[in-house]
Amino acid sequence: MGSWPTIRDLLLLSKQRVTPTGPNLAAFLAPVILSYHIMAVLVQLPRTKLFRVALLPLVLWLALRAGMSLDFSGKQLEYAYLNKALALVMFNLAMRATTWTLVNEPYVKVIGHHKARSSNGIANKADSGSFTTSPNNIRSAMLNASDLCNNLRGLGWNWSKGIYVRSPTFKTESRLVFAVLMLGRSFFYMSICDATDLCVRALAPQGSTGWSIFDPTLPPIRRYLQSTTITLLVGFGGISVLEMYYCLTAVTCVVLFQQHPSQWPPLFDKPWFATSLARFWNRGWHQLFRESFVAVGYKPLEGILGQYAVIGAFLVSGAFHDAGMRGMGHVDTLRIVSYFVMQGAGVGLERLWRQLTGRQVGGCLGCLWVWIWQCLWGHLLVDSWAQGGLIARSAFFPARPVSWALSSAGVLRELNSVA
Ligand SMILES: *[C@@H]1O[C@H](CO)[C@@H](O)[C@H](O)[C@H]1NC(C)=O
Ligand SMILES: *[C@@H]1O[C@H](CO)[C@@H](O)[C@H](O)[C@H]1NC(C)=O
Repeated sequence: MGSWPTIRDLLLLSKQRVTPTGPNLAAFLAPVILSYHIMAVLVQLPRTKLFRVALLPLVLWLALRAGMSLDFSGKQLEYAYLNKALALVMFNLAMRATTWTLVNEPYVKVIGHHKARSSNGIANKADSGSFTTSPNNIRSAMLNASDLCNNLRGLGWNWSKGIYVRSPTFKTESRLVFAVLMLGRSFFYMSICDATDLCVRALAPQGSTGWSIFDPTLPPIRRYLQSTTITLLVGFGGISVLEMYYCLTAVTCVVLFQQHPSQWPPLFDKPWFATSLARFWNRGWHQLFRESFVAVGYKPLEGILGQYAVIGAFLVSGAFHDAGMRGMGHVDTLRIVSYFVMQGAGVGLERLWRQLTGRQVGGCLGCLWVWIWQCLWGHLLVDSWAQGGLIARSAFFPARPVSWALSSAGVLRELNSVA
């Protein structure tokens, strides 16, 4: 009797993940990156929708294949998060290709990088002159394609009008000054990551696999106090990890690729002070994936649900984060998606509140509401991450300044062995 074909068989994928050697990277990563770039060229040219529709299934399959076929972890749990990163990159690429397939009007890069920001902090819009599929235009679209592929917020493109981008507090024209400042910032965030990681490791049980943030040996009140502490620490740690890598990428691009500091405006806008969930998700949190979440999740539902269609955007965000955890071999779809759907429900509740009372959610009470809602539902996400071995088990940072300082002062010998 033959066994049932698995998902991998049906999708014609290899049985097992392979190590990222040169030939494997060429076989699995190169095709998907190439097809993504072709999509980026097509979306800049008018009357190419049919080509995009035809190409999309191939891009989706290549993305799935790359995401499921490579193994960057070296079979070690502390590097399994690299497979999560791979899955997220591939999912994002698939979402963007889908977004580009759905749009009717071509994307246009309207400004050179020295003017990537407008004064009001919203990505600039402008109209450019004629554009056709002339050879010149195709060449120009090919040159601009890699910017489009890597420029998630669309800074300097005419499609990103709705995306909020915070103006930098300190503007500089000098690449050197910017690089030094960003290195300082990344060191600061690296220290925060390291400190929160040390704290969470101290609270987590020893071991080399996943764990739960709910310690069954503790009495209920202490158990939930501890899980709340861990959730908050992981929240701060998570933002810091993103900030750290953003700063390091900015330095690399400005120094090595001669990009301009204005192409690297702040990623977050003080999420801790957000006075409503709508503000938290529209401005406070980073907006890197907003374009796709709106195009794939919000737009299709808008006709039926009206403004409550935001739930669709959060659903797609949930699927995105679920794909990440699946990438590192942890399947916990219900809890991961629930966290994001509850964020959408929270935003919906705020709208309902406004309709019923005529008042916006805001002020100190609004801020408290955001913290309570995040903390409550954040437990689902953080516990899932902990059980998947992402938290207190991952070697996230290039360096660990706080651990190093503490251990050279002889304070934390035993923790050092864990780290
Ligand atoms: C971008 O600009 C072009 C040229 O002005 C215009 O035709 C197109 O509709 C714009 N695209 C979007 C997505 O706004
Ligand atoms: C490519 O970018 C430049 C600005 O850097 C712009 O002038 C040109 O119109 C863009 N080409 C296309 C096809 O969008």
